[in-house]
Amino acid sequence: MRAGVITGVGGALPEQTLTNADLESMMDTSDQWIVERTGIRERRVGGVTSALAVEAGGKALAAAGVDPADIGLLILATTTPDRTVPATSASVSEELGMRCGAFDVNAACAGWVYALVAAQGFVATGVDKVLVIGADTLSRFTDYTDRGTAILFSDGAGASVVEGREGREGSLGLLGWDLGCDGSAESILYCDYGGLIKMEGREVFRRAVRVMVDSSKRSLEMAGVTAHDVDLVIPHQANIRIIESANQRLGIPMEKSSVIIDRIGNSSSATIPLALEAAIAQGRLHDGDVVLFTGFGAGMTWASAVVRWGQT
Ligand code: COA
Repeated sequence: MRAGVITGVGGALPEQTLTNADLESMMDTSDQWIVERTGIRERRVGGVTSALAVEAGGKALAAAGVDPADIGLLILATTTPDRTVPATSASVSEELGMRCGAFDVNAACAGWVYALVAAQGFVATGVDKVLVIGADTLSRFTDYTDRGTAILFSDGAGASVVEGREGREGSLGLLGWDLGCDGSAESILYCDYGGLIKMEGREVFRRAVRVMVDSSKRSLEMAGVTAHDVDLVIPHQANIRIIESANQRLGIPMEKSSVIIDRIGNSSSATIPLALEAAIAQGRLHDGDVVLFTGFGAGMTWASAVVRWGQT
């Protein structure tokens, strides 16, 4: 069996910054309220999903030192594709110069972790190198007259190259995972064709904490480690209070979390790889570290993965 290890990570953000002060001029809200209730100070908006994915994917390939032609599979997690048909991964693979299978995954904000787990499955069955991208442009579907959602959502992309390593299954790469979906909760967060995002914020919050904690526990158990063994949590960046509550219930101190929500907001499947990119840039990851990825999203979906960091 082969382990899939992350060998390169890259991120991309659109140029336009939407600050809390900008939102104050657009609706009845305040910087103080947004910071206290969400932890967000500014967010990036105005991107195109495929373009952000190409930029992030290109950076991840460069960081891994991998030629696009050597990638054996592209998995793009997005809930905001450029078009209904074809899949956005088709445009991304063409732009990056790939000649391999490519498909989209839509598991909303849990999408990148779904794609990471799927990548491990492909690596185990013989694909050498998989490019896993999370890219979303939620600002296109955000109602800027609704202060309950407009303050949260943003655009961005994050990517990682996952490569196979012989004989390291169970000791390197993905050690445990948990994917879930409760379709009975679809009415609390959705966007119809041609419409804008509708959300019951309080209910999403309540369920988010519960599913992140339960899913993380299942992944940790499968990995044969405890919350105490976790060196770094890379959570979906939806609301700082959700991250704090989940960490508290798991018994993991906030210092062990990668948090960048203050400057990026919630860009759905992009937030986890972007928070991973930030952690790497800050020198927070070391060989042998136990990393817990955990997220949730519309569906309601959730996904967690426990990874032993390192390449050999
Ligand atoms: N500015 C000022 N006041 C606001 C506001 C804003 N942007 N948004 C809501 N309020 C008001 C409400 O109208 C309400 O006023 P009332 O008490 O007079 O009725 C009050 O603040 C509390 O509203 P509530 O919805 O209970 O606030 P909250 O603490 O739950 O925060 C969210 C709202 C949306 C920030 C929070 O529920 C949340 O983050 N939920 C999870 C959403 C999420 O993660 N979605 C993405 C999933 S991937």
